[in-house]
Amino acid sequence: MATRTIREIGDSVLNKPCKEVTEITPRIRELIGDMLETMYEANGVGLAAPQVGILKRIVVIDCTGEDPIVMINPRILEVSGEQTGPEGCLSVPGKSGTVTRPAYVKAVAYNEDMEQFEIEGTELLARAICHELDHLDGHLYVEKVEGELVTVTEEEEEEEV
Ligand code: NI
Repeated sequence: MATRTIREIGDSVLNKPCKEVTEITPRIRELIGDMLETMYEANGVGLAAPQVGILKRIVVIDCTGEDPIVMINPRILEVSGEQTGPEGCLSVPGKSGTVTRPAYVKAVAYNEDMEQFEIEGTELLARAICHELDHLDGHLYVEKVEGELVTVTEEEEEEEV
């Protein structure tokens, strides 16, 4: 595994829709391993493949620091409620903004063995799932920020996804 360069806002790869994964190849496995390593090294809680320049529908999320979730071809099945709070993104370093997301999300995805699974999340996990899935459609959270993007120091930085 290796870390990959995180693409930043202004890079056109972040604005393109991603393609579905049709089979798990050694290259896809390597990509997933590299995405996890890149996310952990950057102290993020989530990372989507386009953030490392790959237009495939793959995201990794780890809100606890010990239990990574790999989601391939994820789809949201159900949302409910609302939560409004600060959000950041590894592709928009040093910034944070207020975004309203669903309070609860249920999604379906495939794991690294292309087995389908469902996942339910609230709080940060619900926020991270929505944020990462937006990346797969070429959208950044800055499009949804209420008010201004604010500059934050490294110590103050919100969970970045
Ligand atoms: Ni992000």
